[in-house]
Amino acid sequence: MTSLPFPEAARVDALDKVRGRTLYGADVPADGLLHAMTVPARIAKGEVTGIDTSVALSIPGVRLVLTPEDTPMPAAARESGRVPPMLETAIAHRGQIVALVVAETLEAAIQGAEAVEVSYAQSPFTTDFHAADTPREDTDAPTFGDADAAFAGAVTTIDQTYSTAANHHNPMELLSTTAVWSGGRLTIHEGTQGSGGMKANIAALLEMDPSRIDVLSPQIGGGFGLRGDTPRHTAVVAMAARRLGRPVKFVMPRSQIFHNTRFRPFVEHRVKLGADADGRMISAHYDTLQQNSRAGHYRANWYHAGPSKAYGIPNYRGTSGDQRLDTQNPAQMRSPYEYPASFAFESAVDELAYAMGRDPLDLRLAHEADTDFTTGKPLTNRTLNDCFRQGAERFGWADRTMEPRSMTRPDGTLVGWGMGGGVYQAAMHPAIATLRVNANGTTRFATSGHEMGQGMRSAIAQTLIAGLRIDPEKLEIVIGDTRAAPQHGTAGSWGTASSVPIAAKAAEALTARLTDLLDGREVQGDMHRQLYRVKRPYLEVEVEMAAPGQGQEHIDRVRNGGFAVAGLHGVYPKFTALSYIAHFAEVHVEPSTGRVRVPRVVSVADCGRVVSPRTARSQVLGGVVWTIGAVFREISETDSRFGGWLNSDIAEYLVPVNADVGEIDVSFLDVPDYQFNPVGVKGLGELAMVGIGGALANAVFHATGRRFRHAPIRVEDLLA
Ligand code: MOS
Repeated sequence: MTSLPFPEAARVDALDKVRGRTLYGADVPADGLLHAMTVPARIAKGEVTGIDTSVALSIPGVRLVLTPEDTPMPAAARESGRVPPMLETAIAHRGQIVALVVAETLEAAIQGAEAVEVSYAQSPFTTDFHAADTPREDTDAPTFGDADAAFAGAVTTIDQTYSTAANHHNPMELLSTTAVWSGGRLTIHEGTQGSGGMKANIAALLEMDPSRIDVLSPQIGGGFGLRGDTPRHTAVVAMAARRLGRPVKFVMPRSQIFHNTRFRPFVEHRVKLGADADGRMISAHYDTLQQNSRAGHYRANWYHAGPSKAYGIPNYRGTSGDQRLDTQNPAQMRSPYEYPASFAFESAVDELAYAMGRDPLDLRLAHEADTDFTTGKPLTNRTLNDCFRQGAERFGWADRTMEPRSMTRPDGTLVGWGMGGGVYQAAMHPAIATLRVNANGTTRFATSGHEMGQGMRSAIAQTLIAGLRIDPEKLEIVIGDTRAAPQHGTAGSWGTASSVPIAAKAAEALTARLTDLLDGREVQGDMHRQLYRVKRPYLEVEVEMAAPGQGQEHIDRVRNGGFAVAGLHGVYPKFTALSYIAHFAEVHVEPSTGRVRVPRVVSVADCGRVVSPRTARSQVLGGVVWTIGAVFREISETDSRFGGWLNSDIAEYLVPVNADVGEIDVSFLDVPDYQFNPVGVKGLGELAMVGIGGALANAVFHATGRRFRHAPIRVEDLLA
């Protein structure tokens, strides 16, 4: 594999996307397609006592209504404890789907769903995080050194509480399932980050042999955690299609997405920091308390992943808890633990800098580390300070004056400069791939992975084009398809780090096979031409690769549809591997209206080797825009009277628009980490949102002199 920087190249699927040729799950044509609509629960908690489907079934075009009676959980699926349920009579949250209506047209399905009469027995519920009787459950959290003693001996301290709002995914592609039965086989077309897991779950729920199920998720219009598991409706739609012997399509309306699917929970963060006389942080206390559902498994203690590692603070004491409430299960949303944690922690570091009268950049640069104190393992590298220095240079940080409101423009515009940064795990899963180069000019590569728009296909293409002499125009990359290769779930920014090294390995294996085949003969032309000349229709290789510290058993686990990620929190048997990022932000606050604009952000990331510069840059752009949303706009308001969410559409759930976003300057260190994998690539997608939340809040403080310790910071806060 070349060690030269990878060239700038267009996204491989760009033309198809802008021409509308890309087919998402709900776009797949099928003969005799039926349409489905769900019936959401109208209570916040309780029991379905009866469902009258007679009116719905009398509507012309309605073919079937499925209710909890039709979807009992098979005993084996229940016992596994891992398979999501289908329709149930027990209602855990408002909006939980209780029935599915299938009809010849979408209109009839909607009319049918509205005509299903459900009766309920309601139970008391609470969705109020701060209510006195909300049950709290505590979880172990990272603790090392002696944070109390170090805090007692600190020269400068701060102790503050921050909060980050509940947020909802609002993907361009709505959730959908298209289920097609043919010749005894079930094919699911659905945008998912885990086609292999979905196949296993549907097999368990429908009591089928998994070898008769294919799940196809070649393109996703918005993932980042929303599509991390199998939603409740998928197997129900498949069951409807089986009953009726016709394909069935379901597209979930956006309002139901708010009530049914994974969301980012509200979190309270208390941060206590202590610094010594030299201005180094020697003690950190971090307490997190998150909104969770009654039985949800989203971990309360993973908020510590970044703060416990970013600055090499030797004394750290963490606590974590869940407020158990009657909502759907919270779960991953981009930079799921790291965005909220770094909003709080990077705000706290800024507060500490001001308490010492020290430049926030200088304070951060005073921290170096070669050890991950959470485990005692060596870091493969630590380039956070390189990111800070490069970012400061590009931003012009040296021209900043420290005093809040000191950079106000003559027209009264309050100008603020803030910064933040942090780390994200470099994770990786075992991969299996096949590569076939054909004499006819085509090439096909198949492996595990899901293209959510993050650019995974483009990164794989760059790797193959660098390693093979092939026609790049006729390169097909098959991912997210259980027919083509075992599919591991894609999340946690392990996609590129898992699919790129296996692509490089496949290219090397195929090149070696061709060299053997040619056996010293000089044959002109690219690989297709060479195969043609020696009368071989194709060469194919299959390769497999485990993550550091893993063996054959982990590869086999992926072959069997299992989950085998290594490097959660960056930790491997012999080292800890992290990605790094620094952000510098300028905000303008209009003093009379409190309107905030973000005219420019400078971001510098180290994600190891940059394989696809174009899509890597887009990842960071997207992460910055997403955080501008999280810090200045987005909030999911719980309804404590009726349960559920109050603002369940994008008219009332505000996301940033172009006018809110200025210039975003993105650059990369592009330093390969060869200890981590042979190509030196690490993850980037989630990293993009680390530290920028704090940077934006710190910029608001610098502009206004007012410290807002909650996200979002909205006009009404600035006016108050
Ligand atoms: Mo990511 S939020 O784990 O898809």
